[in-house]
Amino acid sequence: MVKGNVVLGVTASIAIYKSLEVLSRLKKRGFNVRFALTEEAKRLISPVVFKALTNNEVYDDVMEELDLGDTNITHVSFANWADVFAIVPATANIISKVACGIADDPVSLVALATEAKKVIAPAMNSQMYLNPIIQDHLNKLKSLGWLVVEPEEGDLACNTKGIGHIASENHIADAIESCMYPDLLKGKNVVVTAGPTSESIDPVRYLTNRSSGKMGFALAKMARYMGADVTLITGKVCLDTPFGVNRIDVESTNDMLTALKKEIEKKDDLIVIMAAAIADFRPEKMESKKIKKEGNGKFTVNFVENPDVTVEIGRFAKSLGKKLRLVGFAAETHDLLENAKKKIEKKGLEFIVANDVKRDDIGFGSDFNEVIIIHRDGRMERIERSEKLKIAYEILRRLN
Ligand SMILES: Cc1cc2nc3c(=O)[nH]c(=O)nc-3n(C[C@H](O)[C@H](O)[C@H](O)COP(=O)(O)O)c2cc1C
Repeated sequence: MVKGNVVLGVTASIAIYKSLEVLSRLKKRGFNVRFALTEEAKRLISPVVFKALTNNEVYDDVMEELDLGDTNITHVSFANWADVFAIVPATANIISKVACGIADDPVSLVALATEAKKVIAPAMNSQMYLNPIIQDHLNKLKSLGWLVVEPEEGDLACNTKGIGHIASENHIADAIESCMYPDLLKGKNVVVTAGPTSESIDPVRYLTNRSSGKMGFALAKMARYMGADVTLITGKVCLDTPFGVNRIDVESTNDMLTALKKEIEKKDDLIVIMAAAIADFRPEKMESKKIKKEGNGKFTVNFVENPDVTVEIGRFAKSLGKKLRLVGFAAETHDLLENAKKKIEKKGLEFIVANDVKRDDIGFGSDFNEVIIIHRDGRMERIERSEKLKIAYEILRRLN
């Protein structure tokens, strides 16, 4: 599935290798990529590498016209071809040039000529990054609609630590991919719960479930792509935080409830999507020391029921006079529709997303899902098996 065309502008930062890592992510996500390089970037990595990895012509000389099969001159052709134009990495030099409308190299030329969505990932030494001139130029680009993928604190090439380390390849690829989606949720606050909760038996052992968190993370990522302000409350998972998403890690069901209440207190108007697989039961008592074998061949734990988090937050929001739109998930192994319908009423949901976790080609751990959206009025919509990110889009566009 081809998602779109991306021109990656590459400049002469020590983080130049990142452009190739971002290329790899974009190719996996189905994008076509062409490269434009500055003269100085060419001196750090040969254009041959960029050409070989994309199988596309590389624009690396403003005075040389490439034969791209159209009548346009090269910078216009690149500019028109792009759905997204991204500068990765971006030097202080290119940031300043682009902010001032200078166009004397392939990257700044395409930047000025294109009407595509624009992304920029700065990389430089801390003093350069924090220099008010660079901050002014970045603010100007932001005000003109550029999506700036802010650098991180980290080890810098000049043997110091500080701000200026280029963002991760996943975050840069997320930022680029986000440009392909409409801003349907702009101005909305979305909280997504994800992953399993886990309940401790003693300091060493806990009980949990098979949720990988992938569906919840896909929802958080897509809600952000669609312009929402997103908080992700997650149990233990091995997944990267999506770009631009505020993440809160929790363990138990009660921790998740507390975290949700805090978010409700902060905002007047919230959409909450309950994609987490919340433990229904917890051990009656958590032992303070590791439990030893008694040698009698048995081990018994008494369980008590956990609160129904969705019902609780509905009540909590009402008591504070806050507006809450709730979406639930029903991961069932049997009587899928029957169980899902009961939950809509009991939990005060706008709609519920039902999926069959018995199937091993979808659901827990898989990158794919197939779901049925069941509305309050009984209407049902099936979303055929597809990537969880696509399913997330289908769920979220119903909330705009
Ligand atoms: C090894 C090396 C690493 C560099 N790393 C950076 C960097 O990370 N960020 C930056 O703004 N400039 C960096 N520079 C300085 C730029 O290469 C210099 O400003 C150059 O003129 C930028 O050209 P360009 O923006 O046209 O690619 C580096 C220079 C060298 C030699």
